[in-house]
Amino acid sequence: MREKLEHLVELRRQAEWGGGQKRIEAQHERGKLTARERLDVLLDEGSFVELDRFVVHRATDFGLADEKYLGDGVVTGYGTIEGRLVYVFSQDFTIFGGSLSEAHAEKIVKIMDLALKNGAPVIGLNDSGGARIQEGVVSLGGYADIFLRNTLASGVIPQISGVLGPCAGGAVYSPAITDFIYMVLGTSYMFVTGPNVVKTVTHEDVSMEELGGAAAHASTSGVAHFACPTEVDCLQRIRRLLLYIPQNNKEAPPRRPTDDPFDRADEELLDIVPDSPNKPYDIHDVIRHVVDDGDLYEVHADYAQNLVVGFAHVGSHSVGIVANQPAVLAGVLDIDASLKGARFVRFCDSFNIPLLTFEDVPGFLPGVGQEHGGIIKHGAKLLYAFCEATVPKVTIITRKAYGGAYDVMSSKHIRGDINYAWPTAEIAVMGAKGAVEILYRREIAEAADPSVKATELQDQYAENFANPFAAAARGYVDDVIDPRETRARVISALDMLQNKRDENPWKKHGNIPL
Ligand code: HXC
Repeated sequence: MREKLEHLVELRRQAEWGGGQKRIEAQHERGKLTARERLDVLLDEGSFVELDRFVVHRATDFGLADEKYLGDGVVTGYGTIEGRLVYVFSQDFTIFGGSLSEAHAEKIVKIMDLALKNGAPVIGLNDSGGARIQEGVVSLGGYADIFLRNTLASGVIPQISGVLGPCAGGAVYSPAITDFIYMVLGTSYMFVTGPNVVKTVTHEDVSMEELGGAAAHASTSGVAHFACPTEVDCLQRIRRLLLYIPQNNKEAPPRRPTDDPFDRADEELLDIVPDSPNKPYDIHDVIRHVVDDGDLYEVHADYAQNLVVGFAHVGSHSVGIVANQPAVLAGVLDIDASLKGARFVRFCDSFNIPLLTFEDVPGFLPGVGQEHGGIIKHGAKLLYAFCEATVPKVTIITRKAYGGAYDVMSSKHIRGDINYAWPTAEIAVMGAKGAVEILYRREIAEAADPSVKATELQDQYAENFANPFAAAARGYVDDVIDPRETRARVISALDMLQNKRDENPWKKHGNIPL
């Protein structure tokens, strides 16, 4: 027995050695951690239980019969984050560049199947040269097996991807189906075809970083939700995400105790919205004054900044916040903001996370680029997402709620549960200037002093329509509230709605305008 045990210990040591000391050093020289070091940061200390440590590939071509590494380039298993179960896989770049073989794929699939059966999140740490070239089609099949599970698990268990090195070709589509993608500045990149192919096909000269680095994906393409300065920061941010989300679609999100008084009346909320409707302000200031301890976990912070989305706790309830941002493009809804908002709303609705919407929106962005880029179908995604959401929905209109955007932003008509307006709210088809120009073009042109006439008519329109009371008179907002009471009113609404039950008609699935 003892001899056999010694053999086991030796094999375990070998498995932990990955592709060997030299390749581990090369990994460190690139500023990257190894697959196992990453799991040490990600998981609670001592919680990781490894599975399939002795799996090896079955390939024989290209001399591979004699080159086998225990684990075959991916470390898989389960562990805990703040005591809660998660399933993990972490690709090991030191073994065949973390490339995906048939056996490597089978290990990931096993973890995903376990996660789905047991209702816990899957966190994948990707660092891979893609399909194991020597294995050919079985490697492609392995990817497809993973894509299928990503899709089946979508909306059932949270799926989180850390892209911590290369992720190229079709391999990108596994992270792309998952709920959140975290990247690291300078060391991770994602693209369907790399700079060389781009150069050949389109004659564009572009570096890996420019084409598919963390900054490009977190701010321009929107593929990544987070661009982190270091791997350790990235892994810690993934840990923090779990504070807001449930284990699966049948559970409620975790509540977080706080000392922040539920009835805290915040004087500063009186001075954030400027008197002039044309002046910007930062919606983060409003959010921070309302949520517990001023703590917002912002998602997609660098992309479509005219809409802010993220998680927070309010009165210890986890909520998903969707907020127009008047400080960027006046908070207008454009294609990118619609996509960002729709995906976030659908995540929250899938996982029973109430939606708290802050609204100050002048409408959808006009322009040929937006129309030809499909603002109609993309804006419809955000509308569809809010319409189909059955989680508790609380909306605060701080200022403008104009036009179609009024309907879209979780209005009462699309099953907003509690909708409040501040006294500064302007709920109307459009702003005073635009409305007067359309309604009174002739009168203004014929007036002795057209600009005086226009101002007079605008003031009249503003008095009649640019306020919350026409909407309140019809019950389209449930109350007009003192901004200082916002936190207390939101908490009361979330408490009241915590047993909410609502359903959509049976369907195989909807046909969201893609
Ligand atoms: C087998 C691979 C590999 C791969 C890298 N390696 N990629 N082995 N299959 N796909 C091995 C290398 O031979 C090397 O082995 C080790 O990993 C490290 O690779 P290096 O090239 O030395 O590292 P680096 O310079 O950092 O470059 C990393 C890289 C490059 C950019 C990822 O290796 C690369 O371009 N690889 C090929 C990428 C690719 O075209 N993959 C297929 C994409 S298509 P040694 O023994 O020297 O340590 C795809 C289809 C998926 O993935 C389809 C799904 C539907």
